[in-house]
Order: sequence, then C-alpha cells, then structure tokens
Amino acid sequence: MDATLPAELERIRQGIGQEIRQKFREKLDACAQQSPERASLALEEVRIDSFGKKSALQHLLRQLGELPSEHRNAVGSAVNLLKQEMLREFEETRARLEEKASAQLLEAERIDSTLSERPRRIGTLHPTGQVIEEVIAIFGDMGFRSAEGPDVEDDFHNFIALNFPPDHPARQMHDTFYLRGERRGSSQKLSEESSEESSEELSEELSVSSEPWILRTHTSPVQVRTMLRGELPIRIIAPGRCYRSDSDQTHTPMFHQVEGLVIDECTHFGHLKSCLSAFVRAFFEQDSVGVRFRPSYFPFTEPSAEMDIACVRKEGALSLVEEISPDSEWLEILGCGMVHPNVLQACNLDPEKVQGFAFGMGIERLAMLKYGIADLRTMFEGDVAWLEHYGFSPLDAPSLLRGLRPQAC
Ligand code: DAH
Repeated sequence: MDATLPAELERIRQGIGQEIRQKFREKLDACAQQSPERASLALEEVRIDSFGKKSALQHLLRQLGELPSEHRNAVGSAVNLLKQEMLREFEETRARLEEKASAQLLEAERIDSTLSERPRRIGTLHPTGQVIEEVIAIFGDMGFRSAEGPDVEDDFHNFIALNFPPDHPARQMHDTFYLRGERRGSSQKLSEESSEESSEELSEELSVSSEPWILRTHTSPVQVRTMLRGELPIRIIAPGRCYRSDSDQTHTPMFHQVEGLVIDECTHFGHLKSCLSAFVRAFFEQDSVGVRFRPSYFPFTEPSAEMDIACVRKEGALSLVEEISPDSEWLEILGCGMVHPNVLQACNLDPEKVQGFAFGMGIERLAMLKYGIADLRTMFEGDVAWLEHYGFSPLDAPSLLRGLRPQAC
C-alpha cells in the first residue's frame, strides 16, 4: 500500500476535519431556527446525516483500514476525537432545544388564575325526590324505618292479603295494569312455606298458574311483606312507585306513594291521630294546622278515615290555617285507619294480640300542595326549565335540625 496518506485523511490530520465540523454546525444552527415541533425532526435528520452509515465521518473511518499502520493510530484518534466532539455538540444542542420547547409549551399553557371560572351547571333534585326525603326525615325522627318492595307484584300481596277478595268492587278503583305471560305459583306461598313442603307438593305449587303479574297499584303490599316477616313491633314507611291505568290533570299512570305501618301490642286510633297530625305540622313547617279525620272506606283498615287539612286560597295560592272559618276549606291529604283483623290474619299475626294503624299518601299530591305546582303531569315531563324552577339543591339534604326546606334553586 502507498505510504502517503490519502488526500482526504491528510486534510483531516491538517485540521481539515474543520470542514466536516463546520457543515455540521451549520446544520445544527438551522435546526435551532425551526419551530419546536419541527426542530426535533430536523435534529434526527442531522444525526443520521452526520453519524449514520453514509456520513462523511463513517466514510473516513472506513478508510482508516487502508492506511499504512504507522499513520493509522494518529489519524484514527484524530477522527475519533472529531466524532466525540461532534456528538457532544449534538447532545448539547438537542438538550438546549428540548428545554426551549418545553419552556414554550409551559408558557403557552400557563393558567391565568385571575380569570373567573366558567359557570358550572349543577342539576336540581326533582320535587318528588325532595318530598320523599322530607317524609323520610320526619318519620325517621319518630322512629320509623324505610322499607321497600317490588314494583311488579302478585295478586296476593297487592289485593288478597289486603282484604280485597276476588271480584271485590274496591278492586275497580285500582285500574290495574296486568302483565301478560303466565307466572309460577304464588310467590308468597313459595317464600313462606316451601321449606316445609314435600317435593311433590312443591312441584305442584310450581305448576304454571293463570294468575297474571300486576304492577302494584299502591305501596300497601309492602305492609304485607313486612308483616309476613313476623318481626314485631313494626314501624315502617314505604315510599315507592305505583301504577294505575289512569291519566288526566290530577292522575298519571305512574306516581309515588308513601305507606306507613305501625303494629304493636297496644296501638290505638289516638296514636294514629297524633302521629299524623305531628307529621302534617312538620311537613308544612307550621306550629299548628287544622286537621280533621273524615270516616272513609278502605278494605284493609277498619275503621278507616281520610285526613283533611284546613287551608284558605288567596289569589290561587294555598295557605294552611289553624282555625276553621267561612273562608277556609278542607283539603284531603291522606288515607288511614286501623289495620283490619283480616289483614293481620292473612299475614300470620293474631288480631287478639297485636293491632296497629296504617296510612298512605300520594307524594306528588304532597309536593303540589307544598310547593304550589298546578298540574301533576308537568312533574313527569322532564322539562329542564321546569326543574330549574321547582327543583332543589342536591347539596342540602332535608333534615329536621336544619329545616326541611332547602333553598329552592
Ligand atoms: N292504599 C291506599 C290507596 O292507594 C292508600 C291507603 C289508604 C293506604 C289508607 C293505607 C291506608 O295504608 O291505611 O289509595
């Protein structure tokens, strides 16, 4: 091999690596001119251009092998030194550009804490939910617990056990929704007695019955379910949905009721009157409200009564009054009575040993009276403007201590 250096290597040795370095620096400077997003792409191109297989540096390194051995070390270390320096410069530039990019990003994303926040829309509680919470708070304070039952019931729980025999005329008032399809046996029998039955009796019980399921027409089946559990004494309220095939300004096919039941050894009509009078005072937040108990009829109570409250109507608005006057009128608010002995017996309780009272009221009716809502149907329309007007703050749960009625939103 020729002992003289190839011209190119000789130039490097003479410091001509400067040329490579110069071009490299120009490229780095061009990167720095780019926008932050493009700079990192441009840097990658420079890296491949300057250090990749086809780079001038690699070309030089490949040529080293062709050098006579006495020159190889000196030239090799010169090229390596050049490469190290270029790599260092490259990394410095990359770090500088990254820092610049993140500073620019931070600047662009800076939060201006002097800006006022965007208005946030908080939903409102529907008056039905609000009134349920209020009723639970009032009766909870009197020692009642809340109970629940299914919306889809059978004839036994909705009617038979409540002393509505088949073909009883009172059933007609209930405009029942029947569910198509057959069902198996009586769920009451299955749940209460199946453990004692032989398997033949059980399979007979399970045979398909022609009785349809029904959508409960009132919350009274929850009384039956609670009594059948046999844990005494009982003090429950049962808020929930009910269904009747009925629709006009004061009726909707789905509505809400709250049922109440007290069973103990010596419960009497006086307890019923004082309990419900206390409820009305607490619910309408008045120290005294004129009430009357008007004889009525329900199959499941005897005697039965309807409770009315005294009020006067001024310019369309109702206000409750204590004293009855020529201007005042009676408004029906709930049904009640002493639990009928037939109901107690149907629920495996002995009417000679225990008795009690029950009551039931429509939640929407309570809400309309208390909050001045004119048309029952508007409560089910899901109109946001209506809800903003009649709804309640979800952050204020009704409580007797703080007051039942939170700020209307
Ligand atoms: N279940 C009755 C109805 O839907 C309401 C009712 C009245 C319930 C009197 C009762 C009660 O518990 O004693 O019309």
